[in-house]
Amino acid sequence: MSHRTGQGRSLSPWRPGQSAASPDAASSAASHDAPSALPRLCVVGLGKLGSPIAACLAAKGFTVVGVDTDPAKIDAIKQGKSPVFEPGLDEMLARTAGRLTATADLAAATHATDVTFIIVPTPSEADGGFSLRFALPACRTIGQALRSKETPHLVVMTSTVMPGATDGPLRQALEQSSGRRCGDGWGLCYSPEFVALGSVIRDFLSPDFLLIGQSDAASGDRLESILRQTVENKPAVARVDSVNAELTKLAVNTFVTTKITYANMIAEICHRLPGANVDQVTAALGLDTRIGAKYLRGAVGYGGPCFPRDNAALSSLARELGAQARLAEVVDQTNRHGVQRIADLVYSHLPSGPTRGRVAVLGLSYKPHTDVTEQSQGLLLARTLADAGLDVTVFDPAAMNNAKAVLHDAVKYAADLRQAVEAGDVVVAITPWEEFKTIEPTWLSRPASPRVLIDCWRYLDAAALSAVTNYVPLGIGPEAPAAEAIDRSLRVA
Ligand SMILES: NC(=O)c1ccc[n+]([C@@H]2O[C@H](COP(=O)([O-])OP(=O)(O)OC[C@H]3O[C@@H](n4cnc5c(N)ncnc54)[C@H](O)[C@@H]3O)[C@@H](O)[C@H]2O)c1
Repeated sequence: MSHRTGQGRSLSPWRPGQSAASPDAASSAASHDAPSALPRLCVVGLGKLGSPIAACLAAKGFTVVGVDTDPAKIDAIKQGKSPVFEPGLDEMLARTAGRLTATADLAAATHATDVTFIIVPTPSEADGGFSLRFALPACRTIGQALRSKETPHLVVMTSTVMPGATDGPLRQALEQSSGRRCGDGWGLCYSPEFVALGSVIRDFLSPDFLLIGQSDAASGDRLESILRQTVENKPAVARVDSVNAELTKLAVNTFVTTKITYANMIAEICHRLPGANVDQVTAALGLDTRIGAKYLRGAVGYGGPCFPRDNAALSSLARELGAQARLAEVVDQTNRHGVQRIADLVYSHLPSGPTRGRVAVLGLSYKPHTDVTEQSQGLLLARTLADAGLDVTVFDPAAMNNAKAVLHDAVKYAADLRQAVEAGDVVVAITPWEEFKTIEPTWLSRPASPRVLIDCWRYLDAAALSAVTNYVPLGIGPEAPAAEAIDRSLRVA
C-alpha cells in the first residue's frame, strides 16, 4: 500500500459532525436513520455510473443529493425509479429510505453537503484523449459555491480523465471560481471506479481494490473512510497522487483489453487447428498464477463505453509524450479486426456466396445485462454484414431501441428471439445473453438446407443444436484425424 501524500497541502481539521464516522457507522445507519456524524454527499451526474453509486451510498446510510442537468433523471430519482437500465438499481433505490434526493441546483447541493463526487461524461476526442467540457462547468459551479462555504469540502473526480487533468485544469477551475487554493478549506481527489455495466452495483460494492489519487493525506483519509463504509468487502487501497491514479485507471483497462485480445488470438488459432479447444487451453493457462483465469474466455472482441476508449487514450497520451505504446495500438487494431473475422466466418457458411444470403445476429448490446450498444461487436457485425449487401435480421433482449438509433433501416428488427432465429440461413449468437439458451432446436430445424448456428461463446446446448443444425462453436478446431490415421501417415512418411 502506497501512502504518498501529493503536494503536502492539508486541510483545516475535519470537525466532529462533519467527519466520516467509524467504519461501523454506515452499516448501523443503514438500519436506523443516518447519524449526523456521517458526511453528507453530493453526486453530480446521475447517469449509468452516477445513479447506481448515488443509490448505493444512500442505501448504506449516507444522505445523498443527486444533481443532473437532465430533468428526466431528476424526476426518476425523486420517484425512486431507475433513470438508467441497470440490474438491481430499482431494488437499491428502494433501500435508500428517503436519504437520496435530486436537484438541478449544483451550487445549493454543494452548500448542503460535505463531499461532491463528479460523475459527468468525459467524451473521447478525435485524438483519443478525454474532453472536460462537462466536468469544467461543474467544477466552476462547485467552486463558486465553495467561495462562501464555511465548512470543509472534498471534491472527488470519479469520471475518467486524462493523466494530469485533476491537478491541472480541474483544480485550476475550482481555485479560480472559489478564490481559494486547494487545501484552503477544500481538498481534491481522483478516484475512478472499475465497474462493468450490468454489474455496476456488485462491482462498486465489492471492488478488487480502491484507487485514490489525493491532493493531501487528510482528503485521501476522508474518501477512504467513506468508501470503506460503503463497500461490502475489505479491498486493498492504493493511495497515490492524482496523476498516478489517472494513469493507473488507463493502465488497468489497457491490461485487461490486452488479456482479452490475447485469449481471442488463442481462440482464432484453435478454430483452425485440428482437435484444438480454446476452453481447454485457457482453463490451463488460467491456472498459472502469473496469468490468472479472469478475462481469458477466448471469444469475440471487447466493446462498451470504457475499454476501447481507455485503450485509445493510453496510446494518445504516449504519442503526446513522445513515448511508444505500440502494444496498446496493436491490441486496438486486433480488436477491430475481430469483427471482420466473424464476418468472414459468416461468409464462409453462406449457401449462396458472400454477397447474398440471410443472416440473423443475436445480441446487440456490448455485453449481457445492459442496453448499451457502444462499440458492441454485435452491432458492428450487423453493420458490416449489411454493408456487404446481406439480408440481416437482428435481435437483442434489451438493446433494440439503442440499436435502431444507429442501424436505422440497414437491418430488419425481429419481434422476438424465435423470429430472428427463423430469419437466418446463418445465425450468429454474439452477445452471451442467457435468454439465447432458450432457443428451441425446432426453430432451427430445416431438413433441406440446415441452418448454420455460430456460437461465439460456446455456451449453447451443443448436443441438442448439433442434431438439427450445422453448429459452429468459435474456438473449437475441426475434428482431429483418428489416431490410426496419424499412425498410418507416420509410417508412410
Ligand atoms: N458507465 C460505466 O460503466 C463507467 C465505468 C467507469 C467509468 N465511467 C466514467 O464515468 C463517467 C460518467 O459515465 P456514465 O456512463 O455514467 O455517463 P452517462 O452519460 O451515462 O451519465 C452522465 C450524466 O451526467 C449528466 N451531466 C452532464 N453534465 C452535467 C453537469 N454539468 N451537471 C450535472 N450533471 C451533468 C448527464 O445529464 C448524465 O445524466 C465517464 O467519465 C465514464 O468514462 C463510466
